[in-house]
Amino acid sequence: MLEFIDTHCHIIPGVDDGPPDMDTSLAMARMAIADGITDIVATPHIVEGYYDGSDREQRIAQLRKSFTSAGIDLRLSAGAEVPMSTCMAGDKTFLKSLAINGGRFLLMETAGTSFDQVAQAAYRVRLCGLYPILAHPERTIFVQKRPNRLNEIMEHDQIYCQLTAASIEGVFGKTIKKTSLFLAKSGMIHLVASDAHSTGKRAPLLSNCYKILCEELGETAARTIMLQNPSRVLESSKLERPALDAGDIPKRGHFLKLFQRKQSSDYTG
Ligand SMILES: [Fe+2]
Repeated sequence: MLEFIDTHCHIIPGVDDGPPDMDTSLAMARMAIADGITDIVATPHIVEGYYDGSDREQRIAQLRKSFTSAGIDLRLSAGAEVPMSTCMAGDKTFLKSLAINGGRFLLMETAGTSFDQVAQAAYRVRLCGLYPILAHPERTIFVQKRPNRLNEIMEHDQIYCQLTAASIEGVFGKTIKKTSLFLAKSGMIHLVASDAHSTGKRAPLLSNCYKILCEELGETAARTIMLQNPSRVLESSKLERPALDAGDIPKRGHFLKLFQRKQSSDYTG
């Protein structure tokens, strides 16, 4: 069985819109293990004036204790999902404290933003000595409308992109699924994570997405995105773009047909 690392998961109970209690967190952990997940990065939402993430290590320590008591063998490390406004205004020490596993990567929230804001926030994050990972760009209208613009700022501002597994499975609708496939086939996706919030629609599951990526991109690219790069995130080493066959890369005409047809109204935040 393949072993996955989930680099984006809301599994800490009672801190954001993830699990409301410890029982739900334990149920999510059991579901993750059954799917082949061995490591989870706990990434609670940072919300100015509500939650600054400063007690994450204590909360994660409590969660680990509960895992041990329940016989659950799942490794946890700390991260956070950081809004653009915090990336632009937060001080260096604070932003570094929110990096994944104390390393060089910072997970940036994309909801309600724009290309300009992403570029500005990424520049600020880089000034702090961190590398931004953009969470679920496929679920934003500005990326759905101009995915090639994302490629430009990724290269210019050294941004890494993380797709949500359920997006490519079609859980959030056809437009998000098509955008996901386009980004993945264009080599713009470095990582896939669950962005799980519960045991329901947004669950900690990755294996089905891996199968889809093997079919759509080939096994080598799927392994880069879903096995090797997640491991590099924890080790704080450089992420690689997946190697794609030229035949897999969407042609511009296909792209225009796909994205001019419909603007998304199914963004899920
Ligand atoms: Fe999230």
